[in-house]
Amino acid sequence: MLPDAPGPGAGTPPLLTGRGLTKGYGGAPVLHGVDVDVHRGRALAIVGPSGSGKSTLLHVLAAVLPPDDGAVVLEGRRIDDRGERARAALRRSTFGFVFQQGLLVPELDADENVALPMLLGGASRGPALRTAREWLGRLGIGDLVARRPGEMSGGQMQRVAVARALAHGPAIVFADEPTGALDTDTAAETADLLFATVRESGSALVVITHDLALAARADDAVSIRRGALEPVVLEPATVAA
Ligand SMILES: Nc1ncnc2c1ncn2[C@@H]1O[C@H](COP(=O)(O)OP(=O)(O)O)[C@@H](O)[C@H]1O
Ligand SMILES: [Mg+2]
Repeated sequence: MLPDAPGPGAGTPPLLTGRGLTKGYGGAPVLHGVDVDVHRGRALAIVGPSGSGKSTLLHVLAAVLPPDDGAVVLEGRRIDDRGERARAALRRSTFGFVFQQGLLVPELDADENVALPMLLGGASRGPALRTAREWLGRLGIGDLVARRPGEMSGGQMQRVAVARALAHGPAIVFADEPTGALDTDTAAETADLLFATVRESGSALVVITHDLALAARADDAVSIRRGALEPVVLEPATVAA
């Protein structure tokens, strides 16, 4: 029997693992003993109905929320049990985030928005802005470096958000419904850019989406149901039709 086509990162130890993750908000747990692996150079899509716990899982994996039980391990080191300051520093240095609405700072130009995670990480302004402008160019909006978010379309703002998530060279990009606020064509374009840039950079991608066409482009896909993960098998050809 032929093995599954090995993508980059397959067969090597996972970059990030969640084991036995349980998380609730007072009532019944939203996540109930979830196990998940994130591999270098691969994209993992998380799908599931609204309210099923997708964002909760992303926040637990990204050390935003501590789990009630279980562990999150990054390159062999546990990260979920660190204090808030240590987790914040880790998120800034090692992770990139893209949300449904770009959450750009309205008072800052595009290049300053992209440079912000680097500046918060201690980079000096000149080099950070140069790197930011390179990334904006790579994402096809090099002409918009001096625009503020209010002077851009939704798709352009999401490109800025993608640049911001990647410019500091994160190991993992977490994207929560990154194309959910965009029209179909802009969503497809933005998804293409996100997958292509993450793959080129060698980072891992964890992407939450309602959009099965987007999930079908990921290397792996799981769905959350009743607090647990199930593998999903998506056929790109049929989903795209
Ligand atoms: N901060 C919170 N406080 C209380 N309940 C929450 C909170 N965040 C999420 N929930 C609840 O947890 C469940 C899962 O939410 P969420 O992870 O946001 O799901 P999804 O992203 O799949 O829509 C929902 O029932 C939601 O109402
Ligand atoms: Mg959500």
